[in-house]
Amino acid sequence: MLTDNSFDVLIFGSGAAGLTLALHLPVQVRVAVLSKSELSESSTLYAQGGISAVTQAPDTFESHIADTLDAGARLNNPETVRFTIENAPAAIRWLVELGVPFTRDNATSNHDNFHLTREGGHSTRRVLHAADATARAMETTLLDAARARSNITLLEHHIAIDLITGHKLGLAHNRCVGAYVLNRDRQSVEAFRARNVVLATGGASKVYLYTSNPDTSTGDGIAMAWRAGCRVANMEFNQFHPTCLYHPKAKSFLVTEAVRGEGGHLLLPDGTPFMENFDERGNLAPRDIVARAIDHEMKRLGAEYVLLDISHKPAPFIKEHFPTVYARCRELGYDMTLKPIPVVPAAHYTCGGVITDLHGRTDLPGLYAIGEVACTGMHGANRMASNSLLECLVFGIAASEHIITTLDDTPPPPAVPPWDESRVRDSDEEVVVSHNWDELRRCMWNYVGIVRTDKRLQRAWRRVDLLQQEIQEYYSNFTVSNDLLELRNLAEVAALIIRSAQARKESRGLHFTLDYPEMDTSKPPADTILTPEQPVDIDLAV
Ligand code: FAD
Ligand code: SIN
Repeated sequence: MLTDNSFDVLIFGSGAAGLTLALHLPVQVRVAVLSKSELSESSTLYAQGGISAVTQAPDTFESHIADTLDAGARLNNPETVRFTIENAPAAIRWLVELGVPFTRDNATSNHDNFHLTREGGHSTRRVLHAADATARAMETTLLDAARARSNITLLEHHIAIDLITGHKLGLAHNRCVGAYVLNRDRQSVEAFRARNVVLATGGASKVYLYTSNPDTSTGDGIAMAWRAGCRVANMEFNQFHPTCLYHPKAKSFLVTEAVRGEGGHLLLPDGTPFMENFDERGNLAPRDIVARAIDHEMKRLGAEYVLLDISHKPAPFIKEHFPTVYARCRELGYDMTLKPIPVVPAAHYTCGGVITDLHGRTDLPGLYAIGEVACTGMHGANRMASNSLLECLVFGIAASEHIITTLDDTPPPPAVPPWDESRVRDSDEEVVVSHNWDELRRCMWNYVGIVRTDKRLQRAWRRVDLLQQEIQEYYSNFTVSNDLLELRNLAEVAALIIRSAQARKESRGLHFTLDYPEMDTSKPPADTILTPEQPVDIDLAV
């Protein structure tokens, strides 16, 4: 058991972003990586398609940049896009040296014989992968490396509740100095202190009823940063992955876009192809377009799903390239080598998040945000496939470099008071939490989903506002639990999504509204930035 919860760097999240940062800090730096679930449980573990990077001619940085800007509907920050893409090869090299077993193919001409696949929005093959379980290989490799490092303390079942800041402690200088954390095994709240705190807590797709994401994606980092006074941006851009396996009794399971990259195509339930009616890139149009086309056709036909067909490819090819998808389909009674499989869209990725600079710094000194929790400007209005893991790696490394260069000048954290439980008691009605979880996610799915209107957003706002009041009352009166903390954060994020969606009076990328169906080209594209009322010290020089 730890006796002193004080570290140089306190990282929340053991996915690709958090572990990359931890592994780039030198051994003399005391690091803690906390995860609210098992250490490997994260979106990272389930990533299938791969990581995009320019690794061979004739592909170029300029081409990867152009595709990313195009997919992002020009809302991306061009400087961030260039920074990320130009740093991709070094990040990939690091993964290879660490032992990530990317799929190779001797027939290819690139130096390392990487087999490259293609996904929506990419104008060429540039996605490195380990069959269809890229990130399982990556997460396992990163975790093994972290376990071998004596300076890294790994703690699972520890969920951060809220950040501790100078302002909250009544100090003159506002800085993040730690966090209160619920130790789920002991059911006790502990204070953790650190010179630097990093949010690597992933996205918020659990705010929707149907999602490809694991249970960890409840937007905790975004909600905590917001409550600590940080600005958030572009929360209206919620990505729905076009193809999750449809089964009335199974949780959503992602069918990688690489299936379409390798020749799979979408069909209506009667077998008619339809994607060419929506975009000249057909089945490989960016994700926002494909998801909207499927939604349109399902609503038009009253269909429960559309079909994805790759059965024209040889069975050994399908089994070799998509072993995970093939196995899951078989478990549910579908054989993708013989027949098309039923698919539906589901919430997949949070493009918006905590605003950061190119070092991963947030508005609050001492607080960094990296990976899906952050809004770096990389993805704009729609993330291109396989650009997320890339961003996790590049910003994990960038934040580590900034922490290393500033650590000696960073003050040790002050003493913090213990968590105060004197005014709360054990819950007498847990059903309130489970009911509100369900109501919130259903409301977001029905009113703030793939196609929005002003009226739907207003409806959603009224409900979420009421839910937030109820949840806050519950939080103030009862002992905290994991479900309550996640619900509180999801409701916070839902409110941020609705406010951002209401503010955008146009359709762009993932935000599509029937009331403003066109992109507003009369002025330059602008981020939707929300600022908490609480004042913060802004320190964002890049
Ligand atoms: P995550 O990997 O989600 O990790 C979050 C971590 O934070 C977890 O350890 C969690 O326990 C912890 N955490 C959260 N809240 C708290 C808290 N309050 N206290 C303590 N710990 C907390 N992207 C690609 O680029 N290529 C792909 O092929 C691809 N495929 C995907 C397939 C699926 C099914 C999914 C769901 C996503 C996919 N993505 C893909 C997206 C990509 O996987 C994620 O965006 C990326 O892994 C996010 O990494 P992260 O480190 O930011 O967060
Ligand atoms: C997929 O494999 O289709 C997911 C890729 C991604 O989300 O980037």
